[in-house]
Amino acid sequence: VFMDEIMGISELEEKIKKKLGIKKVIILPGNADDDSLVIKDIGKATYKYLTKIIKNDYIIGVTGGNTMLEFANCCHETKKYENILVVPARGGLGKEVEIQSNNIAAIIGKKFGGNYKLLHVPDNVTEETLNSLILEPEINKTLNHIQNVDILVFGVGRADDMARRRKMLDSDYQYIMSKGAVGEAFGYYFNRDGEIIYETSTIGIKLENFKAIKNTIGIVGGSRKAEAILAISKIKKDLVLVTDEGAANKICELI
Ligand code: G3H
Repeated sequence: VFMDEIMGISELEEKIKKKLGIKKVIILPGNADDDSLVIKDIGKATYKYLTKIIKNDYIIGVTGGNTMLEFANCCHETKKYENILVVPARGGLGKEVEIQSNNIAAIIGKKFGGNYKLLHVPDNVTEETLNSLILEPEINKTLNHIQNVDILVFGVGRADDMARRRKMLDSDYQYIMSKGAVGEAFGYYFNRDGEIIYETSTIGIKLENFKAIKNTIGIVGGSRKAEAILAISKIKKDLVLVTDEGAANKICELI
């Protein structure tokens, strides 16, 4: 018998919230691994939750990925809020342009009144180049906004999937796997205890910033991502998680 047959969704939400020890859990029916429409429902539920906490003058940070793109497409055009600014959380994570955080920030920014910033950082540049990029006035301004986000909406990936998607060097891949990397978010790879195993070299939000953000909404579906959810939940106890039954049931098996 599947968990959802014997337990209502709200009970399951309460159970997962307790298990993970985080602020809030929203669970959508189904499993994104088998049904891509579930990601749309996660997107819709995220927008609904966002409108409950958003206020005038807020800065919203966003990351990249397919889940985030669905969420962006689920946001409604609204003039209800004044002076909302949308920024990508981190630049240059080597993804296809459509699912890059820049594109997602632009889509969401347009829907909330048109105010958004982009962060253009080339992939695989040296530390030295990154350090001089940070000093560019426009980039510096954007980085300031990023450090002051009021709400961060972010996707979470499996470490192995994300390393492959970003064409990580084989030696680095072997290294992170040997260290038990299970999850990835905004360029950081974590083990199941939430310890950093590897950090993609780029600019934007740092883990210290992430820990200090008041409102963080992790959006992640599918039982395959259950361990990645465990990792991110270790780092951020006031996390709001929007997920699906597939992931929730798998979490119940794991912990
Ligand atoms: O950083 C994690 C990824 O953005 C998750 O991407 O939603 O395409 O699985 P995804």
